[in-house]
Amino acid sequence: MSQDSVHGKWRNRWTFILAASGSAIGLGNIWKFPYIAGENGGGAFVLVYLLCISLIALPVLIAEVSIGKATRLSPINSIKLLSERAKASNYWVLCGWGAVIAGFLILSFYMVVAGWSLHYVLLSVQGAFNGLDGASSGALFGDFLASPSLVLGYSTVFLVATMLCLGKGIEKGIAATINVAMPALVGLLILLVIYGAAEGDFNSAFEFLFIPDFSKLTFNSMLVALGHSFFTLGLGAGAMMIYGAYMPDDVSITKAGVQIALTDTLIALTAGMAIFPIVFANGLEPGQGPDLIFIALPVAFGGMPFGSVFACLFFLMLSCAAFTSAISMVESTMAYIVERKGYTRMKAARIVGVMVWLVGLGSALSFNVMSDVTLFEKNYFDLIDYLTTNILLPLVSLGTIWFASWVMADKDVLSIFPDGRPPLLVVVGRWVAPLGIVVIFASIFGFL
Ligand code: PHE
Repeated sequence: MSQDSVHGKWRNRWTFILAASGSAIGLGNIWKFPYIAGENGGGAFVLVYLLCISLIALPVLIAEVSIGKATRLSPINSIKLLSERAKASNYWVLCGWGAVIAGFLILSFYMVVAGWSLHYVLLSVQGAFNGLDGASSGALFGDFLASPSLVLGYSTVFLVATMLCLGKGIEKGIAATINVAMPALVGLLILLVIYGAAEGDFNSAFEFLFIPDFSKLTFNSMLVALGHSFFTLGLGAGAMMIYGAYMPDDVSITKAGVQIALTDTLIALTAGMAIFPIVFANGLEPGQGPDLIFIALPVAFGGMPFGSVFACLFFLMLSCAAFTSAISMVESTMAYIVERKGYTRMKAARIVGVMVWLVGLGSALSFNVMSDVTLFEKNYFDLIDYLTTNILLPLVSLGTIWFASWVMADKDVLSIFPDGRPPLLVVVGRWVAPLGIVVIFASIFGFL
Protein backbone atom coordinates (compact mmCIF):
# COMPACT_ATOMS: atom_id res chain seq x y z
CA MET A 1 0.00 0.00 0.00
CA SER A 2 1.65 3.20 -1.10
CA GLN A 3 0.80 6.40 0.70
CA ASP A 4 1.80 9.95 0.00
CA SER A 5 3.07 12.38 2.53
CA VAL A 6 1.41 15.77 2.82
CA HIS A 7 4.91 17.10 3.28
CA GLY A 8 6.49 15.67 0.12
CA LYS A 9 9.00 12.90 -0.49
CA TRP A 10 12.69 12.43 -1.21
CA ARG A 11 13.22 12.17 -4.93
CA ASN A 12 15.09 8.85 -4.72
CA ARG A 13 16.85 6.42 -2.42
CA TRP A 14 20.12 8.41 -2.52
CA THR A 15 18.52 11.60 -1.33
CA PHE A 16 17.13 9.69 1.64
CA ILE A 17 20.48 8.09 2.45
CA LEU A 18 22.32 11.38 2.02
CA ALA A 19 19.83 13.30 4.16
CA ALA A 20 19.83 10.67 6.91
CA SER A 21 23.64 10.46 6.83
CA GLY A 22 23.75 14.25 7.00
CA SER A 23 21.59 14.10 10.09
CA ALA A 24 23.84 11.48 11.63
CA ILE A 25 27.17 13.09 10.75
CA GLY A 26 27.59 16.12 12.97
CA LEU A 27 29.56 17.61 15.81
CA GLY A 28 29.34 14.25 17.56
CA ASN A 29 31.41 12.59 14.82
CA ILE A 30 34.03 15.24 14.48
CA TRP A 31 34.94 16.20 18.00
CA LYS A 32 33.47 13.54 20.20
CA PHE A 33 34.05 10.21 18.51
CA PRO A 34 37.79 10.52 17.76
CA TYR A 35 38.46 11.60 21.32
CA ILE A 36 36.43 8.94 23.09
CA ALA A 37 37.78 6.25 20.77
CA GLY A 38 41.37 7.21 21.51
CA GLU A 39 40.81 7.46 25.23
CA ASN A 40 38.99 4.15 25.55
CA GLY A 41 41.41 1.83 23.87
CA GLY A 42 41.45 2.82 20.17
CA GLY A 43 40.69 -0.20 18.02
CA ALA A 44 39.24 -2.06 21.02
CA PHE A 45 36.71 0.71 21.52
CA VAL A 46 35.94 0.84 17.80
CA LEU A 47 35.08 -2.86 17.95
CA VAL A 48 32.72 -2.38 20.90
CA TYR A 49 31.23 0.67 19.24
CA LEU A 50 30.54 -1.33 16.06
CA LEU A 51 28.80 -3.98 18.19
CA CYS A 52 26.66 -1.31 19.89
CA ILE A 53 25.78 0.18 16.52
CA SER A 54 24.79 -3.14 14.98
CA LEU A 55 23.07 -4.77 17.95
CA ILE A 56 21.34 -1.81 19.54
CA ALA A 57 21.44 1.40 17.53
CA LEU A 58 20.72 -0.12 14.12
CA PRO A 59 17.50 -1.87 15.22
CA VAL A 60 16.33 1.42 16.79
CA LEU A 61 17.16 3.23 13.55
CA ILE A 62 15.17 0.67 11.56
CA ALA A 63 12.27 0.97 14.03
CA GLU A 64 12.23 4.76 13.72
CA VAL A 65 12.32 4.78 9.93
CA SER A 66 9.59 2.10 9.81
CA ILE A 67 7.28 4.10 12.08
CA GLY A 68 7.72 7.18 9.90
CA LYS A 69 7.31 5.28 6.64
CA ALA A 70 4.20 3.42 7.82
CA THR A 71 2.10 6.60 8.06
CA ARG A 72 4.22 9.32 6.45
CA LEU A 73 3.29 11.67 9.27
CA SER A 74 5.20 13.53 12.00
CA PRO A 75 6.35 11.29 14.90
CA ILE A 76 3.50 12.46 17.15
CA ASN A 77 0.72 11.80 14.66
CA SER A 78 2.39 8.69 13.32
CA ILE A 79 2.61 6.94 16.69
CA LYS A 80 -0.88 8.15 17.57
CA LEU A 81 -2.35 6.64 14.42
CA LEU A 82 -0.36 3.41 14.63
CA SER A 83 -1.33 2.83 18.27
CA GLU A 84 -4.99 3.45 17.45
CA ARG A 85 -4.77 0.92 14.63
CA ALA A 86 -3.09 -1.57 16.95
CA LYS A 87 -5.72 -0.87 19.64
CA ALA A 88 -2.87 -0.09 22.02
CA SER A 89 -2.72 2.48 24.82
CA ASN A 90 -2.97 6.17 23.93
CA TYR A 91 0.08 6.78 26.07
CA TRP A 92 2.34 5.59 23.26
CA VAL A 93 1.94 9.05 21.77
CA LEU A 94 4.27 10.25 24.53
CA CYS A 95 7.06 8.60 22.59
CA GLY A 96 6.31 10.88 19.65
CA TRP A 97 6.20 13.93 21.91
CA GLY A 98 9.43 12.90 23.61
CA ALA A 99 11.16 12.59 20.24
CA VAL A 100 9.93 15.98 19.01
CA ILE A 101 10.90 17.69 22.27
CA ALA A 102 14.34 16.02 22.32
CA GLY A 103 15.17 17.18 18.78
CA PHE A 104 13.98 20.68 19.59
CA LEU A 105 16.02 20.90 22.81
CA ILE A 106 19.14 19.50 21.16
CA LEU A 107 19.01 22.22 18.50
CA SER A 108 18.75 24.85 21.24
CA PHE A 109 22.29 24.07 22.46
CA TYR A 110 23.71 22.63 19.25
CA MET A 111 23.21 26.01 17.55
CA VAL A 112 25.54 27.56 20.13
CA VAL A 113 28.43 25.19 19.34
CA ALA A 114 27.71 25.56 15.61
CA GLY A 115 27.94 29.34 16.16
CA TRP A 116 31.44 28.89 17.66
CA SER A 117 32.39 27.04 14.53
CA LEU A 118 31.16 29.88 12.30
CA HIS A 119 33.16 32.37 14.37
CA TYR A 120 36.27 30.23 13.95
CA VAL A 121 35.82 30.21 10.16
CA LEU A 122 36.10 34.00 10.27
CA LEU A 123 38.99 33.96 12.73
CA SER A 124 40.97 31.66 10.46
CA VAL A 125 40.27 33.87 7.44
CA GLN A 126 41.71 36.79 9.44
CA GLY A 127 44.83 34.74 10.23
CA ALA A 128 44.11 34.93 13.96
CA PHE A 129 45.81 31.58 14.66
CA ASN A 130 49.25 32.49 13.25
CA GLY A 131 51.91 31.78 15.87
CA LEU A 132 49.33 31.15 18.60
CA ASP A 133 50.48 29.30 21.73
CA GLY A 134 48.32 27.28 24.14
CA ALA A 135 47.72 30.13 26.58
CA SER A 136 46.81 32.70 23.95
CA SER A 137 44.56 30.20 22.20
CA GLY A 138 42.76 29.53 25.49
CA ALA A 139 42.40 33.28 25.98
CA LEU A 140 41.07 33.75 22.43
CA PHE A 141 38.36 31.16 23.05
CA GLY A 142 37.69 32.39 26.60
CA ASP A 143 37.26 36.02 25.49
CA PHE A 144 34.88 34.96 22.77
CA LEU A 145 32.75 32.90 25.16
CA ALA A 146 32.70 35.78 27.63
CA SER A 147 30.91 37.97 25.10
CA PRO A 148 27.15 37.35 25.22
CA SER A 149 26.53 39.39 22.08
CA LEU A 150 29.09 37.50 19.98
CA VAL A 151 28.02 34.02 21.13
CA LEU A 152 24.35 34.84 20.74
CA GLY A 153 24.96 36.62 17.44
CA TYR A 154 26.63 33.63 15.81
CA SER A 155 24.07 31.18 17.22
CA THR A 156 21.31 33.36 15.81
CA VAL A 157 22.91 33.48 12.36
CA PHE A 158 23.17 29.68 12.38
CA LEU A 159 19.58 29.25 13.55
CA VAL A 160 18.18 31.70 10.99
CA ALA A 161 19.98 29.84 8.19
CA THR A 162 18.61 26.52 9.52
CA MET A 163 15.05 27.80 9.67
CA LEU A 164 15.25 29.45 6.23
CA CYS A 165 16.35 26.12 4.77
CA LEU A 166 13.51 24.29 6.53
CA GLY A 167 11.02 26.97 5.50
CA LYS A 168 11.78 26.25 1.84
CA GLY A 169 10.51 22.69 2.20
CA ILE A 170 11.80 19.22 1.61
CA GLU A 171 12.85 19.47 -2.04
CA LYS A 172 14.01 23.06 -2.34
CA GLY A 173 15.25 23.40 1.21
CA ILE A 174 16.51 20.20 2.83
CA ALA A 175 17.35 18.11 -0.26
CA ALA A 176 18.94 21.05 -2.11
CA THR A 177 21.15 21.86 0.90
CA ILE A 178 22.11 18.24 1.47
CA ASN A 179 23.12 17.82 -2.18
CA VAL A 180 25.67 20.61 -1.80
CA ALA A 181 26.72 20.28 1.84
CA MET A 182 27.41 16.54 1.95
CA PRO A 183 29.80 16.38 -1.04
CA ALA A 184 31.46 19.54 0.32
CA LEU A 185 31.86 17.91 3.72
CA VAL A 186 33.40 14.74 2.29
CA GLY A 187 35.66 16.71 -0.07
CA LEU A 188 36.92 18.95 2.74
CA LEU A 189 37.49 15.97 5.00
CA ILE A 190 39.59 14.21 2.35
CA LEU A 191 41.67 17.36 1.84
CA LEU A 192 42.24 17.59 5.59
CA VAL A 193 43.32 13.94 5.85
CA ILE A 194 45.81 14.48 3.02
CA TYR A 195 47.11 17.58 4.79
CA GLY A 196 47.37 15.66 8.08
CA ALA A 197 49.29 12.86 6.33
CA ALA A 198 51.66 15.30 4.64
CA GLU A 199 52.31 17.66 7.52
CA GLY A 200 51.31 15.78 10.66
CA ASP A 201 52.18 12.66 12.61
CA PHE A 202 50.04 10.11 10.82
CA ASN A 203 51.52 7.07 12.57
CA SER A 204 50.81 8.25 16.11
CA ALA A 205 47.29 9.16 15.09
CA PHE A 206 46.77 5.76 13.53
CA GLU A 207 48.05 4.04 16.65
CA PHE A 208 45.93 6.16 18.97
CA LEU A 209 42.78 5.47 17.00
CA PHE A 210 43.14 1.95 15.63
CA ILE A 211 45.60 -0.21 17.56
CA PRO A 212 43.42 -2.11 20.05
CA ASP A 213 44.46 -1.64 23.65
CA PHE A 214 42.10 -3.89 25.57
CA SER A 215 43.57 -2.79 28.91
CA LYS A 216 41.92 0.63 28.48
CA LEU A 217 38.55 -0.90 27.72
CA THR A 218 36.45 -0.79 30.88
CA PHE A 219 32.78 -1.38 31.53
CA ASN A 220 32.44 2.37 31.48
CA SER A 221 33.94 2.56 27.98
CA MET A 222 31.24 0.18 26.82
CA LEU A 223 28.59 2.51 28.19
CA VAL A 224 30.27 5.45 26.51
CA ALA A 225 30.16 3.53 23.23
CA LEU A 226 26.49 2.71 23.71
CA GLY A 227 25.50 6.27 24.64
CA HIS A 228 27.44 7.71 21.74
CA SER A 229 25.88 5.31 19.24
CA PHE A 230 22.48 6.92 19.98
CA PHE A 231 23.61 10.50 19.72
CA THR A 232 25.64 9.97 16.60
CA LEU A 233 22.74 8.39 14.72
CA GLY A 234 20.36 11.03 16.07
CA LEU A 235 18.15 8.32 17.59
CA GLY A 236 15.31 9.19 19.93
CA ALA A 237 15.10 12.71 18.52
CA GLY A 238 12.51 12.16 15.78
CA ALA A 239 14.99 12.89 12.99
CA MET A 240 15.08 9.40 11.50
CA MET A 241 11.32 8.99 11.97
CA ILE A 242 10.48 12.10 9.99
CA TYR A 243 13.11 11.42 7.32
CA GLY A 244 11.66 7.90 7.05
CA ALA A 245 8.24 9.47 6.45
CA TYR A 246 9.60 11.01 3.25
CA MET A 247 11.25 7.83 2.01
CA PRO A 248 10.38 6.55 -1.48
CA ASP A 249 8.27 3.35 -1.45
CA ASP A 250 10.70 0.94 -3.03
CA VAL A 251 13.67 1.43 -0.71
CA SER A 252 14.73 -1.31 1.71
CA ILE A 253 14.77 0.11 5.22
CA THR A 254 17.22 -2.47 6.52
CA LYS A 255 19.74 -1.93 3.72
CA ALA A 256 19.48 1.84 3.95
CA GLY A 257 19.88 1.66 7.75
CA VAL A 258 23.10 -0.35 7.40
CA GLN A 259 24.44 2.11 4.83
CA ILE A 260 23.68 5.11 7.04
CA ALA A 261 25.31 3.55 10.11
CA LEU A 262 28.40 2.56 8.09
CA THR A 263 28.77 5.99 6.49
CA ASP A 264 28.46 7.65 9.88
CA THR A 265 31.15 5.42 11.40
CA LEU A 266 33.48 5.83 8.43
CA ILE A 267 33.26 9.61 8.62
CA ALA A 268 33.90 9.57 12.37
CA LEU A 269 37.06 7.49 11.90
CA THR A 270 38.21 9.64 8.99
CA ALA A 271 37.66 12.77 11.08
CA GLY A 272 40.02 11.26 13.67
CA MET A 273 42.63 10.76 10.95
CA ALA A 274 42.27 14.42 9.99
CA ILE A 275 42.54 15.80 13.51
CA PHE A 276 45.04 13.66 15.44
CA PRO A 277 48.02 13.77 13.03
CA ILE A 278 48.00 17.55 13.47
CA VAL A 279 47.49 17.36 17.22
CA PHE A 280 50.31 14.83 17.76
CA ALA A 281 52.74 16.54 15.38
CA ASN A 282 52.50 19.63 17.57
CA GLY A 283 52.98 17.75 20.82
CA LEU A 284 49.48 18.70 21.98
CA GLU A 285 47.26 16.74 24.32
CA PRO A 286 44.22 15.16 22.67
CA GLY A 287 42.04 17.06 25.21
CA GLN A 288 38.31 16.68 25.34
CA GLY A 289 35.57 18.11 23.10
CA PRO A 290 35.49 21.88 22.87
CA ASP A 291 39.06 22.24 24.11
CA LEU A 292 40.43 19.93 21.46
CA ILE A 293 38.72 21.65 18.57
CA PHE A 294 38.63 25.25 19.68
CA ILE A 295 41.88 25.54 21.66
CA ALA A 296 44.35 22.80 20.67
CA LEU A 297 43.64 22.69 16.93
CA PRO A 298 44.04 26.46 16.36
CA VAL A 299 47.49 26.26 18.02
CA ALA A 300 48.38 23.37 15.72
CA PHE A 301 47.13 25.10 12.57
CA GLY A 302 48.80 28.35 13.63
CA GLY A 303 52.24 26.74 13.50
CA MET A 304 51.87 24.85 10.23
CA PRO A 305 52.40 25.73 6.57
CA PHE A 306 49.15 26.99 5.01
CA GLY A 307 47.67 26.63 8.48
CA SER A 308 45.13 29.44 8.07
CA VAL A 309 43.79 27.98 4.84
CA PHE A 310 43.36 24.52 6.34
CA ALA A 311 41.96 25.89 9.59
CA CYS A 312 39.35 27.69 7.54
CA LEU A 313 38.55 24.50 5.60
CA PHE A 314 38.31 22.55 8.87
CA PHE A 315 35.84 24.93 10.49
CA LEU A 316 33.87 25.14 7.25
CA MET A 317 33.59 21.36 7.29
CA LEU A 318 32.50 21.40 10.92
CA SER A 319 29.85 24.02 10.12
CA CYS A 320 28.56 21.97 7.17
CA ALA A 321 28.31 18.87 9.38
CA ALA A 322 26.49 20.82 12.08
CA PHE A 323 24.10 22.33 9.56
CA THR A 324 22.96 19.08 7.97
CA SER A 325 22.30 17.71 11.48
CA ALA A 326 20.54 20.83 12.70
CA ILE A 327 17.96 20.80 9.92
CA SER A 328 16.95 17.27 10.88
CA MET A 329 16.46 18.13 14.56
CA VAL A 330 13.35 20.25 14.17
CA GLU A 331 11.93 18.88 10.92
CA SER A 332 9.58 16.74 13.01
CA THR A 333 8.38 19.82 14.93
CA MET A 334 7.87 21.59 11.60
CA ALA A 335 5.90 18.66 10.20
CA TYR A 336 3.71 18.49 13.30
CA ILE A 337 2.84 22.19 13.12
CA VAL A 338 2.04 21.93 9.42
CA GLU A 339 -0.20 18.88 10.06
CA ARG A 340 -1.92 20.40 13.05
CA LYS A 341 -2.37 24.01 11.93
CA GLY A 342 -2.07 23.83 8.16
CA TYR A 343 0.48 26.68 8.19
CA THR A 344 2.88 27.21 5.32
CA ARG A 345 6.42 25.90 5.84
CA MET A 346 7.80 29.45 6.15
CA LYS A 347 5.29 30.37 8.83
CA ALA A 348 6.00 27.17 10.74
CA ALA A 349 9.75 27.85 10.40
CA ARG A 350 9.33 31.35 11.85
CA ILE A 351 7.43 29.99 14.86
CA VAL A 352 9.83 27.11 15.52
CA GLY A 353 12.83 29.41 15.03
CA VAL A 354 11.61 31.90 17.63
CA MET A 355 10.83 29.11 20.10
CA VAL A 356 14.24 27.44 19.69
CA TRP A 357 15.95 30.83 20.02
CA LEU A 358 14.14 31.59 23.27
CA VAL A 359 14.95 28.20 24.77
CA GLY A 360 18.53 28.43 23.46
CA LEU A 361 19.09 31.84 25.02
CA GLY A 362 20.02 30.18 28.29
CA SER A 363 22.59 27.98 26.53
CA ALA A 364 24.22 30.91 24.74
CA LEU A 365 24.40 32.84 28.01
CA SER A 366 25.68 29.87 30.05
CA PHE A 367 29.28 30.86 29.28
CA ASN A 368 28.97 34.46 30.31
CA VAL A 369 26.00 36.27 31.92
CA MET A 370 24.46 33.08 33.34
CA SER A 371 27.64 31.19 34.18
CA ASP A 372 26.82 31.24 37.89
CA VAL A 373 23.32 29.87 37.44
CA THR A 374 23.62 26.15 38.11
CA LEU A 375 21.42 23.23 39.08
CA PHE A 376 22.94 19.92 40.23
CA GLU A 377 26.30 21.62 39.61
CA LYS A 378 25.51 22.00 35.93
CA ASN A 379 24.94 25.21 34.01
CA TYR A 380 21.94 25.60 31.71
CA PHE A 381 23.84 24.40 28.62
CA ASP A 382 25.16 21.27 30.36
CA LEU A 383 21.79 20.57 31.92
CA ILE A 384 19.93 20.58 28.60
CA ASP A 385 22.70 18.50 27.04
CA TYR A 386 22.53 15.97 29.92
CA LEU A 387 18.74 15.84 29.95
CA THR A 388 18.49 15.15 26.24
CA THR A 389 21.56 12.99 25.56
CA ASN A 390 21.47 10.85 28.69
CA ILE A 391 17.79 10.71 29.50
CA LEU A 392 15.43 11.61 26.66
CA LEU A 393 17.27 9.91 23.79
CA PRO A 394 17.63 6.48 25.44
CA LEU A 395 14.11 6.67 26.92
CA VAL A 396 12.44 7.56 23.62
CA SER A 397 14.59 4.98 21.81
CA LEU A 398 13.47 2.29 24.24
CA GLY A 399 9.82 3.21 23.67
CA THR A 400 10.29 3.31 19.92
CA ILE A 401 11.97 -0.06 19.57
CA TRP A 402 9.41 -1.64 21.88
CA PHE A 403 6.57 -0.09 19.91
CA ALA A 404 7.88 -1.20 16.51
CA SER A 405 8.82 -4.72 17.55
CA TRP A 406 5.93 -5.59 19.89
CA VAL A 407 3.01 -3.19 19.53
CA MET A 408 2.62 -2.15 15.88
CA ALA A 409 -0.24 -4.02 14.18
CA ASP A 410 0.78 -6.78 11.79
CA LYS A 411 -1.09 -5.06 8.98
CA ASP A 412 1.06 -1.96 9.38
CA VAL A 413 4.21 -4.00 9.62
CA LEU A 414 3.31 -5.86 6.43
CA SER A 415 2.68 -2.60 4.61
CA ILE A 416 6.36 -1.72 5.01
CA PHE A 417 7.92 -5.20 5.31
CA PRO A 418 5.96 -7.50 2.95
CA ASP A 419 7.82 -10.54 4.38
CA GLY A 420 7.04 -9.62 7.98
CA ARG A 421 9.27 -8.00 10.60
CA PRO A 422 12.95 -8.38 9.65
CA PRO A 423 15.00 -10.56 12.06
CA LEU A 424 16.75 -7.46 13.40
CA LEU A 425 13.41 -6.20 14.69
CA VAL A 426 12.32 -9.54 16.07
CA VAL A 427 15.23 -11.06 17.98
CA VAL A 428 17.43 -8.03 18.45
CA GLY A 429 14.67 -5.42 18.55
CA ARG A 430 12.51 -7.33 21.00
CA TRP A 431 15.18 -8.40 23.47
CA VAL A 432 18.77 -7.30 22.94
CA ALA A 433 18.23 -3.62 22.20
CA PRO A 434 15.77 -2.94 25.05
CA LEU A 435 18.09 -4.76 27.45
CA GLY A 436 21.04 -2.64 26.29
CA ILE A 437 19.06 0.55 26.84
CA VAL A 438 17.96 -0.54 30.31
CA VAL A 439 21.65 -1.15 31.11
CA ILE A 440 22.49 2.44 30.10
CA PHE A 441 19.79 3.73 32.41
CA ALA A 442 20.87 1.55 35.28
CA SER A 443 24.38 2.90 34.93
CA ILE A 444 23.27 6.53 34.65
CA PHE A 445 21.31 6.25 37.85
CA GLY A 446 24.14 4.52 39.62
CA PHE A 447 22.80 0.95 39.79
CA LEU A 448 25.74 -0.46 37.87
N1 PHE B 1 23.93 12.94 15.05
C1 PHE B 1 24.27 14.31 15.28
C2 PHE B 1 25.76 14.43 15.64
O1 PHE B 1 26.46 13.46 15.69
C3 PHE B 1 23.41 14.92 16.33
C4 PHE B 1 21.93 14.73 16.19
C5 PHE B 1 21.18 14.49 17.33
C6 PHE B 1 21.27 14.83 14.97
C7 PHE B 1 19.80 14.34 17.26
C8 PHE B 1 19.88 14.67 14.88
C9 PHE B 1 19.15 14.43 16.02
O2 PHE B 1 26.25 15.49 15.88
